[in-house]
Amino acid sequence: MALVELRDVVKTFPARAEGRKASKAAPPIRVIDGVSLDVEEGEIFGLIGCSGAGKSTLVRLINALAPVTSGSIRVAGTEVTALREKELRQLRRGIGMIFQQFNLFSSRTVWGNLAYPLEIAGTPEAEQAARISELLNFVGLVDKAHSYPEQLSGGQKQRVGIARALATRPRLLLADEATSALDPETTGEVLALLRRVNAELGTTVIVITHEMEVVRSTASRVAVLDAGQIVEEGSVYDLFTRPRHPVTSKYVGTAVRPTPDADALAKLSARHGGRLVAVTLREDGLSQGKLFGRLYGHGLEAELVHGGVEDIQGRSFGRLVLALHGDEAAVGEALAELSGQVEITDLAPLAVSGATAAALSPPNVADEAPAGLAAAPPPAEAPRQPAAAVLPEGLVAAAAAACAAVPACPDVPACPDVPAAPALVAVEAAA
Ligand SMILES: Nc1ncnc2c1ncn2[C@@H]1O[C@H](COP(=O)(O)OP(=O)(O)O)[C@@H](O)[C@H]1O
Ligand SMILES: [Mg+2]
Repeated sequence: MALVELRDVVKTFPARAEGRKASKAAPPIRVIDGVSLDVEEGEIFGLIGCSGAGKSTLVRLINALAPVTSGSIRVAGTEVTALREKELRQLRRGIGMIFQQFNLFSSRTVWGNLAYPLEIAGTPEAEQAARISELLNFVGLVDKAHSYPEQLSGGQKQRVGIARALATRPRLLLADEATSALDPETTGEVLALLRRVNAELGTTVIVITHEMEVVRSTASRVAVLDAGQIVEEGSVYDLFTRPRHPVTSKYVGTAVRPTPDADALAKLSARHGGRLVAVTLREDGLSQGKLFGRLYGHGLEAELVHGGVEDIQGRSFGRLVLALHGDEAAVGEALAELSGQVEITDLAPLAVSGATAAALSPPNVADEAPAGLAAAPPPAEAPRQPAAAVLPEGLVAAAAAACAAVPACPDVPACPDVPAAPALVAVEAAA
């Protein structure tokens, strides 16, 4: 049995007319639109989505701070949608929460902030002191016990937030954008602390974020929430290496170095010559050594011109751009042979075709796209391309439409990284 089980959860809010009064005429807005999800005991689960996707609403449903419109939510086997106030208080004691803005009491010291949940839970004073000392040790803030929040850095405040959330030894910790107000270095420290909470205390953690890097460095599984629906779910490795939905592709592009855009490809082509191909390597697929061996077997020399191998959840994932040097016919034969065994995409169409790049550039972000993306100059030597490698028009349109539909997140770059993923999906679908 999963620790958290959501089945067909729907949450609607009344539509608001001008002046913020609920409008009787307009239909209610489905902010959570039929979400089903299992979070297993002991895991770190990532929930990713743009601003307004419904993440915080979903969190409020899980800890029963807001009632569902329909559907079922079970936490540790208890149907939370049916609980009365007293039982709800009990439930919430077993669920810790941390927030983007820390939500500490500014009038209380760190010690006082940690004491608060213990006071509410009716913990005897002597026990409170022992527990607070334990918590301060765990988060490394013993020397700050008598400081006020305003005397702490952002990272220290969030460590207090985590300690406070853990005070009553919850089985589940909900971290809603817990690192969104922090700089990258502090983010790393806080995420490391969340991993320790999970590994050392066995606490199940749901990490809610709009940053894929946060998911990548903490979670084992992830669900992508878009406009109140889960559009994709799976292991972090699978989602990073085989994103199926354009929204996921967009997020992955922010955390895994994407295939270069048309402008960069044209420059690579001009600099290195040869035929540019993108190759995606996974642990369960053709190894890098075998790939180079096969190419060599066709009389081709392969030059690595971009990309590399990354670590995702302790497994390697490679996204390489190779310049293949050799006989044109041999290149064609090698691509035909390898396309069934590894994701290999002929990049020649993207490198030379300004029209393709323009088609991939969604209308709403065209102005912000790097100048080269919309108007890639042809390389000095335009490589020839097999017609089969050109992206199907429907796919291009679908990618552009999906991209245009994704609401902008503050630090998710707009769409230039999206084209790479449909290209890879196209080859996989053909294979
Ligand atoms: N109490 C509410 N009444 C009406 N609309 C709400 C309420 N709470 C959230 N919403 C709307 O629900 C959508 C999702 O909000 P939220 O869950 O905060 O998204 P996220 O956390 O993913 O940014 C937004 O469009 C927001 O305006
Ligand atoms: Mg939110």
